[in-house]
Amino acid sequence: MRSTRVISELDPLPRLLMGPGPVNAYPRVLQAMSMPLLGQFDPQFTDYMNETMSLYRDIYQTDNRWTLLVDGTARAGIEALLVSLIEPGQRVLVPIFGRFGHLLAEIARRCGAEVISLEREWGTVFEPQELEAAIKQHRPALLALVHGDTSTTMAQPLEAIGRMCREHDCLLYVDATATLGGMKVAADEWHLDAVSAGLQKCLSGPPGSAPITFNARAERQVLARRHVEAGIRQAGAVAGNGPRIQSNYFDLAMLMDYWGEARLNHHTEATSMLYAARECARILLAEGLANAFARHELAGRALVAGLTAMTLKLFGDQAHKMPNVTGVYIPDGIDGEAVRAGMLGHFGIEIGTSFGPLSGRIWRIGTMGYNCRERNILICLTALETVLRQQGFRCSPGAGVDAAMQVYAADVPRT
Ligand SMILES: Cc1ncc(COP(=O)(O)O)c(C=O)c1O
Repeated sequence: MRSTRVISELDPLPRLLMGPGPVNAYPRVLQAMSMPLLGQFDPQFTDYMNETMSLYRDIYQTDNRWTLLVDGTARAGIEALLVSLIEPGQRVLVPIFGRFGHLLAEIARRCGAEVISLEREWGTVFEPQELEAAIKQHRPALLALVHGDTSTTMAQPLEAIGRMCREHDCLLYVDATATLGGMKVAADEWHLDAVSAGLQKCLSGPPGSAPITFNARAERQVLARRHVEAGIRQAGAVAGNGPRIQSNYFDLAMLMDYWGEARLNHHTEATSMLYAARECARILLAEGLANAFARHELAGRALVAGLTAMTLKLFGDQAHKMPNVTGVYIPDGIDGEAVRAGMLGHFGIEIGTSFGPLSGRIWRIGTMGYNCRERNILICLTALETVLRQQGFRCSPGAGVDAAMQVYAADVPRT
């Protein structure tokens, strides 16, 4: 007989999550998740689905009808869009300026694309002209681009790229996982054909839901490969001509039938995650997008001032830094992992490390969503300074916190 081990109940320690995500969730979002479950075709629940679509249209600044949730973490949204937009054999251009560009290339390859990747040194972004030259040279069917790559903390300017893709008859997909809610992502104004995100960054929900949006250009491409599952096909349903979308779970044509008027059964909607996504959106829109962007910008500036006053060096091209995550070099002679462990152990604060060429070279400090406020930045700077000084790093005590406070003092609104 196998013996059973008694496992104690969950008792997570209170943590301040100041890494590149996940971050602490808004208490109201956690509360929403504890609401009673409804059946997925209960009229009240389908109303909640419609409301969620409408809320995310406002957040993506779009009129796209197809603005919905994919159940899964942010990469579920990426996979759903890429697998539904890419026909095997099509050429896809992927500009890479960090880890998440590599992720897009790898997912596009799995979708059967002929991937052409362009790489830039981490800590920099692409000039629109470089991308235009590559589009002209390679004539891709799709350009897949990260907006804010948390691995490097850089944000790729998007304003010019959508129009350029349109001129060259190429679809544009953007991964806005780390930027949605923290800086402008204007799907219609910037002509972004398809965009995806996750909840666990500036939207401050738990990981596990991916809000996506796509326009009529992308819809046409998806519907060209529409095939309805045999067991739920209705009489007279018209199938697409193209090859079947390779994933069932991420088949956007079927998700459209599920989220649209047909309400054709697909997966069982993740009820509590929909409650969470809906509440994240309500909180963000009640604050107002412009206010939320300003709050992230101010926090990023205060953190940068604090780190600089501590004589730490910032990573990457500061003109293109994301406002909601900051990369900072680990000083020579300092054990970066010991500092992170000290901050977690003594202060309950998590900051991030990085990947690939930046592994062991920089820390990443996030100021996102619910956590993006003055007191958290001051607490984080205090903890970092204390642990660094214990490791022998020399800096003037209190200089970081003073500098960050000055940035807030010079600004009007406080949260
Ligand atoms: C820019 C970007 N894209 C994609 C992802 C992947 O998201 P997830 O881990 O939620 O699947 C992340 C996660 O950090 C990210 O920062």
